Amino acid sequence: MKILGISGSLRRDSHNTRLLRAAANALAPEVELVVYDGLRELPPYDADLDTQPGDPAVVRLRQAIADADGVLIATPEFNGSIPGVLKNALDWASRPFPGSSLNGKPVAVLGASTGLFGAAWAQAEVRKVLGVIGADVIDGELPIGQADGAFDDDGRLLDLDQRTVLADLVTVLAERAGSRAAAAAA
Ligand SMILES: Cc1cc2nc3c(=O)[nH]c(=O)nc-3n(C[C@H](O)[C@H](O)[C@H](O)COP(=O)(O)O)c2cc1C
Repeated sequence: MKILGISGSLRRDSHNTRLLRAAANALAPEVELVVYDGLRELPPYDADLDTQPGDPAVVRLRQAIADADGVLIATPEFNGSIPGVLKNALDWASRPFPGSSLNGKPVAVLGASTGLFGAAWAQAEVRKVLGVIGADVIDGELPIGQADGAFDDDGRLLDLDQRTVLADLVTVLAERAGSRAAAAAA
């Protein structure tokens, strides 16, 4: 089974990309987490450019989501909301509507920020956007606040409660993704 990880940060040393790696280690061995690396290449959404076959970066994003059984999004918070690059990717992924690659796809959301509240607003907004798009949004959040001090040298979360929430969230995501994959194969 394959989960696509999308980090909402372009930063080389991103806490959110680190959080995706921690999530990969919390998944069962038979579940592969592939981190999408094309956020920077996506053009700003423009309906005039949303044509067939379309921009190669957009085709790659939509195909990566279509090929995955589930999606895990780790978002920072910028000015109380979703980083523009992540919202832009979700806008591209939402088309064609209905019938986009995110339609019915199990998606879980978590997030890290250097502030106290761990990108809680951004996570809530990503879940709202995913609901509008028609994804199968997993209940639950994982706000990692003060992210500068949240990980050990091996990229694991230092806080044991946060590790448990992470494991629970990705387990539910994998179960939901597995059920959908089984139904599609039947
Ligand atoms: C433009 C900008 C706005 C930010 N706004 C918020 C914010 O509203 N809330 C918050 O918790 N952190 C905010 N931050 C801090 C980011 O959450 C922090 O830089 C985080 O580490 C970015 O994620 P990354 O480590 O994955 O790159 C902001 C950072 C920037 C650059």
